[in-house]
This record gives sequence, C-alpha cells and structure tokens, in this order.
Amino acid sequence: MAEIETLTAETAEQVEALRIKYLGKKGSVNDLMADFRNVPAEMKREVGVRINELKTLAQERIAALKEKVATTETATADIDLSRTAYPIALGARHPLTIVKNEIVDIFSHLGFTLAEGPEVEDDWHVYSSMNFADDHPARDMQDTFFVEAHPDIILRSHTSSVQARVMERNQPPIRVICPGRVYRNEAISARAHCFFHQVEGLYIDRNVSFTDLKQVLLQFAREMFGESTQIRLRPSYFPFTEPSAEMDISCHLCGGKGCSFCKHTGWVEILGCGMVDPAVLEANGIDSTVYTGYAFGMGIERITNLKYQVKDLRMFSENDVRFLGEFTAAN
Ligand code: PHE
Repeated sequence: MAEIETLTAETAEQVEALRIKYLGKKGSVNDLMADFRNVPAEMKREVGVRINELKTLAQERIAALKEKVATTETATADIDLSRTAYPIALGARHPLTIVKNEIVDIFSHLGFTLAEGPEVEDDWHVYSSMNFADDHPARDMQDTFFVEAHPDIILRSHTSSVQARVMERNQPPIRVICPGRVYRNEAISARAHCFFHQVEGLYIDRNVSFTDLKQVLLQFAREMFGESTQIRLRPSYFPFTEPSAEMDISCHLCGGKGCSFCKHTGWVEILGCGMVDPAVLEANGIDSTVYTGYAFGMGIERITNLKYQVKDLRMFSENDVRFLGEFTAAN
C-alpha cells in the first residue's frame, strides 16, 4: 500500500509503465486475484476487501499521475524558455521633465534652492504683489483662467507667484529657482497652448547688480547650449522688473551665421529678466532701501524646442509613446 502511495512519474510513458506493472493483465493486482483461490475460507472475506482496496488505490494514484504529467507538459509547451529576458523596454522621462531637471541642476550648482507654489492661486500673488496695475491687460479674461464664482481665485499665468510666496515668508538673502506649470487662456495650436511650463529665478541680497544677473545668465546659457554660446540682452518691459530685458542666445544650429531656425538673424530669444522693481520688494515686505535683486523667467517648452527642435507644442501633451520614446537616451 505504502509503495503505491509514493509512486511517481515524469512522463506519459512512465505512467503507462506503472499502469501495466500494477493494473495490467499480468500486473501485481491480477497476480493477487489469481492467488485468491488458495486463501483459506475463513480469511477470504478480509483478504478480498484488502485486494479491492489495493486495486482502487492503484487506479486513483495512476489517474492522478496521468493528470499531473498532462498539465506539466502543456504548461512547459506554453513557456518559451529560449526567449531572452533582456533588454527590457524601459520607459523614458518626459522631455519637459528632462529639460526642467537640467535647468534646475545648473542653477542649484550656482547656489539656488528649489521653491514651488500652488497652481490655483489668488490675484494677489499672481498680479497685485507683482506690481500689475488694476487695469493691466494680463488680468483680462482673454489671458487668465478664473475659477468660477471666485473672481479672486485664478490659475496662475506665470510662476512669478512663487516669488511672491517666497518673499512673504523669507528675508534676504533669497536665492530660489521655481519650476512649475502655468495657464493662459489661448487657443491651442502648434505654437500656443492653454498650459505650459516655466522656470523662474529670484536673487535678493545687498548690492545685487545687473552685472550679477548677466553673469549668471551667461553661465546658464553656456552650460545649457554649449561653451561657445553668446548672449545678448535687449531692453524690454515687465511690470515687476525695472530695468527689464529679454535675452537671446546665438543660434546653436547655425552658430550665429543665420538659418531658417533663427529666421536668419543668428539669435533666438530664450528668456525675460530684470532687476526686481522696488515696488515689488516693498509689496512683499522687503526693505528696498537695503536690498536689491534680480529675477528671470523662461518657458521650458521653448528651451526644449531649441534643444530638440520639436516643431509642434501639442506633442508635449498628447502622450504619443512614439514621440516620448525618442528621449530614452537623454534620461
Ligand atoms: N513672468 C514673466 C513671464 O511670464 C517672465 C519673467 C520672470 C520676466 C522674471 C522677468 C523676470 O513672461
């Protein structure tokens, strides 16, 4: 009995051999049946019961082995053991994340720390504290998304709101870099979107000058676009900086000679900047007779377009894996 319970087999042929050995015409069970004749009459009943038990046990065991062998054989047939495990297809970071990390990295090496703020903001942090007059066109519904029923609650239209939040909680020296998503009420096309991403920088201390700003931006441009990159600053206007400027870099595709990418000017615009307007310092609780500062802001999509020549802004939010997969190597 114990012998039958421990029978094993790996293949269908081995199971068949066991069946013949125990249950076949000349098998052990039949041998016992043949000897039954010689069993003394008074023991016939007990021996008969035992032989039948043995036969049932053997049948059950062999049936179980048959099933085991059949299932392992089909399971191995479904697994392709010769298939290689590598390379496993890895995901890629989003191109905007790659470029954002690169920008933040460059500025953190220059001593800037990361600051972030809410995307749903109030008018004060986005506009009033940043010296926007009450009738400034940027406050218009054409530009700003309002949260329904709350004329004061809006989706931030620039990351300058984070500057305000940092200034209201800290006294100089302040040196922060603020990346984040911003929203503007624009029709979606290849060149505009209702949301995009910015990185803003703010530095406030005693004796901060325009020269400091220019030096930091030159350093950034060279680390981002290559050692031979030139910069130029053109006068501009922002409510929160005075003086204000826009910065161009020498076109890194043609090296400044002029091509279709830079519209044959040799320069491409990459950011806005300027000295923080004293009115902004005062509005945010910083003494403008003691401190000065600079600020700059850039669109991450724009920098990414310059680096990777992405022609259509919509590609960044469509999640087409064929597009996203192209950035695996840049991770
Ligand atoms: N906030 C400005 C914009 O959204 C960019 C900027 C930031 C300009 C800081 C100057 C200084 O266009």
